[in-house]
Amino acid sequence: SETSMPKEEGLDHSLAFLREGYEFILHRRKSFQSNIFETTLLGKKAICIGGRKGAELFYDPDKFIRAGAAPNRLVKTLFGEGAVQTLDGERHRNRKGMFMSIMTRTQLQKLDQLIQREWEKASKQWEQADQINLYEESQYILMRAACAWAGVPLDDEQKRTEQMRHLFESPAALGPDYWQGRTSRSGADQWIADLVQQVRNGELHPVREGALYVFSWHRDSDGELLPEKVAAVEVLNIIRPIVAISIFIAFSALALHQFPQEKGRLQKGDGSIHRFVQEVRRFYPFFPAAIAKVKEDFHWEGYRFQEGMLTLLDIYGNNHDPHLWEQPDLFQPDRFLDWDESPFDFIPQGGGDFHMGHRCAGEWVTIQVMEVSVDFLVNRLQYKVPNQDLSYSHTSMPTMPKSQMILTDIQKVI
Ligand code: HEM
Repeated sequence: SETSMPKEEGLDHSLAFLREGYEFILHRRKSFQSNIFETTLLGKKAICIGGRKGAELFYDPDKFIRAGAAPNRLVKTLFGEGAVQTLDGERHRNRKGMFMSIMTRTQLQKLDQLIQREWEKASKQWEQADQINLYEESQYILMRAACAWAGVPLDDEQKRTEQMRHLFESPAALGPDYWQGRTSRSGADQWIADLVQQVRNGELHPVREGALYVFSWHRDSDGELLPEKVAAVEVLNIIRPIVAISIFIAFSALALHQFPQEKGRLQKGDGSIHRFVQEVRRFYPFFPAAIAKVKEDFHWEGYRFQEGMLTLLDIYGNNHDPHLWEQPDLFQPDRFLDWDESPFDFIPQGGGDFHMGHRCAGEWVTIQVMEVSVDFLVNRLQYKVPNQDLSYSHTSMPTMPKSQMILTDIQKVI
């Protein structure tokens, strides 16, 4: 038997989405007392789902596809055209395999060392400075390490780092900031596409384990090399999000400041940096939702899913769902002591399986880079956090502390 979905009346709720931001889906899940409801976004009917079972459904590749699901402005800035995010079926599995092939233990250790080295170098300079902006400074650290790891020669550090920032700051921006993102996307694509061409011509010999080399020579499911521009987009799918970890680094510094008892525990060694990092990824908003389309008609729990319907998975909401977390709005790293490791409740970087689905290819990278960085902030640096606006919006995407974390009186601890 078919039940009708709770439905939000009214013409279009895009404005409410912008106003309520990260909490849009969770608010409605609470008021409908339902993990599934229908609404209208950007002029189209859309299903919103959450909860553990909702996430499990969303990551069933027989039920949902990604082609044509993401809004165009996301593809034209954040993802890039032809990216793994937009692929389905065998083409997706092949491309995702390419990403996962560089995520080996040895490669992750290499990145770990590069990140540590860059923190060391940068922090020496900071001792001479009156103040630093941690969000910006960490982007240079991450950019240098990411390019070295990927085998990409960094021609103009400032220009390229800013391009990466525009790619993840612009997707939801208005006017000139959005167009800046588009310009940076074409500039960055061209930069890397030229390098791919040089690798293929034998003019450039990057490290063989890095993304530039591996992606330049990868063959897709038809046995063909990727078009230069697509290979470039995928190399940028490694470099750009590593630079975006700066957002989580700023939030980590905020958490250390706002929850000094947790910082104290980490300094004394009776807290765990891993659990702290997990809690930062759960607690602070980053991606609001993942988006897909119904592959073909099906029924689930009595509800009808119609082919082509947009479906949003409540990423932020699952991380703050009171049915999944005790007191979700408290910052408590120790909640991860007895977390059951379900791939469907804690989903800051998507859920499900890495290889078969669209779960973030860089989740291990993110955790590791954050752990190295938090360890550095806690055990290798002394600094003060002067008065500044540390509030963060729950509607701008991406969001971060307004002041971007200004630090003063920086001293390195040997
Ligand atoms: C996909 C979040 C860092 C590479 C995703 C998705 C989310 C996400 C929500 C989409 C999941 C879905 O559509 O179902 C994040 C966050 C990060 C981060 C919050 C923190 C900065 C990284 C890093 C890398 C990376 C460091 C690479 C080293 C990717 C790729 C995909 C992806 C390639 C597409 C996977 C696919 O479509 O199969 N990420 N990510 N991300 N992420 Fe991340």
